[in-house]
Amino acid sequence: MGDSRETLGPKAFVTGFPIKHSRSPLIHGYWLKTLGLPGSYRAHEVAPEAFADFVGALKDGSSGFTGGNVTIPHKELAFRLADKPDALSHELGAANTLWLEDGALHATNTDGRGFIANLDERHPGWDRHGTAVVFGAGGASRAIIQAVRDRGFKEIHVVNRTVERARELAGRFGPRVRAHPAGALAEVMRGAGLFINTTSLGMDGEAAPQLDFSPLAADAVVTDIVYVPLKTPILTQAEEQGFSTVDGLGMLLHQAVPGFEKWFGQRPIVDAALRALIIADMEAH
Ligand code: ATR
Repeated sequence: MGDSRETLGPKAFVTGFPIKHSRSPLIHGYWLKTLGLPGSYRAHEVAPEAFADFVGALKDGSSGFTGGNVTIPHKELAFRLADKPDALSHELGAANTLWLEDGALHATNTDGRGFIANLDERHPGWDRHGTAVVFGAGGASRAIIQAVRDRGFKEIHVVNRTVERARELAGRFGPRVRAHPAGALAEVMRGAGLFINTTSLGMDGEAAPQLDFSPLAADAVVTDIVYVPLKTPILTQAEEQGFSTVDGLGMLLHQAVPGFEKWFGQRPIVDAALRALIIADMEAH
C-alpha cells in the first residue's frame, strides 16, 4: 500500500550538498502519510557542478519531479535558473522552493514565512513593539529581515561581528533596516520587543557569549533560528533573565508548508505529533 501510494503520486525532492542530514523527508513523509495522499518526497544529493543539469531535467520533465526544496549550496543558483521567481526570492537572490506550473519553473523562498508562522503559533503578540534586533548578518538572516520588515516592523537593527555584512543587508532591505557593529548590541537592544539570533553561536554544543538582555522591553521575545540543540545557550540565558523564548524548530516545520501545498495539493498542518517526531529524530542522532 505504502509503495503504490509512493509510485503513483507527484514526486518531490530536497536537494543540497550534502543532504543526508536533512529532516525535510521526515516532515513531508509525515504529511503524506497522515493526509493519505499519493506521492513521494526524497533527499537527492546533487553536487554544485551538476545542479544546472538537475534543474534542466526538472524543467523538461525528464526527471519526473513536480518540484522540491533546495538548500545549501544551491539556493542562489536555483533562483537564477527558475523561469518565474517570485518577488520574495527576487529580493533575496535565493530560492528554497521550486515547482512546475503551466510548463514553467516557479521559485519562492519560504524561510521568512516559516519564521513568522512559528512566532504567530508559539507567542501571539510577539510583534507588538515593532522594533527588532537581528544578531548576525549571514545567509540565514536575510529571509528573516525581509519577513520582519514585511510584517510592518518600524526598526530592525542588524548587529554583526563583521559590520560590512550588516551594511550590505541594510542597503538591500531599505531604510527601516540599520546596521551596527557587535559593540552596539546593548544600545540597540534598548526597548526592543524582539531579539533574533541568526548567528551560528551556540549551535551543536558550541559555547555562546554571555548576553545581557535586560535592555530589551520587559515583555520582549527572544528567538533563535538554531534548533540543534532545541534550547540553545542564547535561549537558556534569556529564560534565566526572565524573558519569553521561542525555539527555532517551528521555523523548519512551517517553512515546509507552502511547498507541500504546491506539489501535493493540500495545505498541511504543523501539529504536536510532527514536532515530537522531529525532536525524537534529533535525540536519536
Ligand atoms: P548562515 O548562512 O547560516 O547565516 P554564515 O553566512 O556563515 O551562515 O553566517 C554566520 C553568522 O554567524 C554571521 O553573522 C557570522 O558573523 P560574521 O559575518 O562576522 O562572520 C556569525 N558568527 C559566526 N561565528 C561568530 C562568532 N564567533 N562571533 C560572532 N559572530 C559569529
